[in-house]
Amino acid sequence: MTTNVLYIDCCIRGGESRTRQLGEAFLFGLAIREEFVIDRLNLMEEPLVPLTGDFFLQRERLLAAGSLSHPRFRYAHQFAAADRIVIAAPFWDLSVPALLKIYIENVSVQGITFDISEVDGISGICRAEKMFFLTTRGGAYSQSPLETGVPMLRNLASFFGIKEFDYIAADGLDLLLEPPEIILGRAIREAQDRAVIW
Ligand SMILES: Cc1cc2nc3c(=O)[nH]c(=O)nc-3n(C[C@H](O)[C@H](O)[C@H](O)COP(=O)(O)O)c2cc1C
Repeated sequence: MTTNVLYIDCCIRGGESRTRQLGEAFLFGLAIREEFVIDRLNLMEEPLVPLTGDFFLQRERLLAAGSLSHPRFRYAHQFAAADRIVIAAPFWDLSVPALLKIYIENVSVQGITFDISEVDGISGICRAEKMFFLTTRGGAYSQSPLETGVPMLRNLASFFGIKEFDYIAADGLDLLLEPPEIILGRAIREAQDRAVIW
């Protein structure tokens, strides 16, 4: 039996990105287990558009008509169908890059990733049981309430019905209190180790 992993790459700096190194280390750890099949989604290569103007109104019309098979909902269907979700995104402006938020806007679709009923209220209907988030930060925010990326993704996992959320953050890479390659190397080893037992 295979386990389909959706890997959402929001590492804007591409080949220069330290977060991408962390994400790839996690995937490397997963690859040891043959049951995992990785479906890569590079957000920088997708025609993602925020919900404004006509794009927003089209969504309202389609939802009112129950047209959930429209191509614009493909991201939501892909997300909802995955067995596991892995997200890699750097720490930007105390959170994640706006591109990831735009992707989430496109994924949050009633009837595909969550639903609302009189009995249950709002409930997530995604198939995945686990979400893993990988990030790197310039400053030291592991103990800080100012860090809003991890809590947001944790809450979204719950919103989508994904029971388990976990993450690794390479913290303080730009502070030069410790060489960044040492911090990143430690996080990379941790990512590989955690992936093997995830
Ligand atoms: C646009 C932008 C915003 C950033 N915002 C923050 C921030 O709010 N706090 C912080 O500690 N570091 C911030 N950083 C630094 C990054 O978190 C850090 O360099 C990270 O390792 C970058 O990841 P990457 O190598 O995958 O691009 C920011 C960097 C950029 C480019």
